[in-house]
Amino acid sequence: MRNYKLLTPGPLTTTDSVKREMLFDHCTWDDDYKQITQEIRAGLLELAHVQEPEYTAVLMQGSGTFGVESVLTSAVGAEETLLIAANGAYGERMADMAEHAGISYLLYREDYDKIISPERVRQLLEENPQITHVSMVHSETTSGVLNDIAAVGAVVKAAGKVFIVDAMSSFGGVDIPVGELGIDFIISSANKCIQGVPGFSFIICRTSELEKCRGKARSLSLDLYDQWLTMKKDGKWRYTSPTHVVLAFAQAMRELKEEGGIPARSRRYQENNRLLIRRMAELGIRPYVSEDIQGPIITTFYYPEGRDFSFQEMYQYIKERGYAIYPGKVTDADTFRVGNIGEIYSEDMEKVCGLVKEFLEER
Ligand SMILES: Cc1ncc(COP(=O)(O)O)c(C=O)c1O
Repeated sequence: MRNYKLLTPGPLTTTDSVKREMLFDHCTWDDDYKQITQEIRAGLLELAHVQEPEYTAVLMQGSGTFGVESVLTSAVGAEETLLIAANGAYGERMADMAEHAGISYLLYREDYDKIISPERVRQLLEENPQITHVSMVHSETTSGVLNDIAAVGAVVKAAGKVFIVDAMSSFGGVDIPVGELGIDFIISSANKCIQGVPGFSFIICRTSELEKCRGKARSLSLDLYDQWLTMKKDGKWRYTSPTHVVLAFAQAMRELKEEGGIPARSRRYQENNRLLIRRMAELGIRPYVSEDIQGPIITTFYYPEGRDFSFQEMYQYIKERGYAIYPGKVTDADTFRVGNIGEIYSEDMEKVCGLVKEFLEER
């Protein structure tokens, strides 16, 4: 059974037209190809509601983690300190990166079913004047919670610190006015809400902060400043680029525009998400986070109560009938996750919930 749809938060189900773009083996130093890179960079700024020269976009080979690591290891200097606000595995991964790179950091760890508290961030900034940078995740894919980056950003900016946001699973699916929120670096990747395939991450950077990264990077290949220096000249990537992925991404950006841009996509995801939660509730299956902080990307559900439930059996049952769902990732409860991003519509939500119902009735 190869042809299932992905209800996972990326890689996700893409259109056939996006996949078809990858049938062409493009030359990396060809002007047409470099032009595609430049168009992608310009299109990303538009999606983020920012403009050159205040902001610039850098594409980085590798998955989303490479993008986050590139920012942290290029932006936080030897004499500087990073505050990491984490309420899930992806926030905690930033602390892991800081450990590996020897970056001085403080970790504010929040419960996985709560959002990052702006008040706590304010307090930590007051108590620790050595902090120069603050990083957090927008849509914590671990639980599905959507953090309030506007409220935290206001605190970070009032304190005059650099603000870094991992918007891996939200950028393109949730409208983010990057400049208005005072974000200095925001990271996402090709295979999330823009609906491309895996292979590179991208970072939208405040140019004045990116310029300060010169000579700070702890890694050669993840040096954000050097990557930008090469790319901004004419769109040439510093090292071999994932050409097929870049072509697919350019098509995915066109399709996002055709759908009606971020407002339309965001609406579709939101509707998918609300329908999913409603139908699961009818089966007695409850979400892990409360409605007010539930994001529109992925939902964590508790295992059904009072049953001898095997996620593996349900996964297999659903997969054989056309959908792949996700195991839970939170550490304090038995859960599974269902994503609703990608080329996914309300009929998919109806179908998958119908399959869950059938599975539970058959057991
Ligand atoms: C919020 C967030 N940050 C970081 C990552 C890591 O991205 P990747 O698995 O592409 O390295 C993910 C992956 O899903 C994510 O959801």
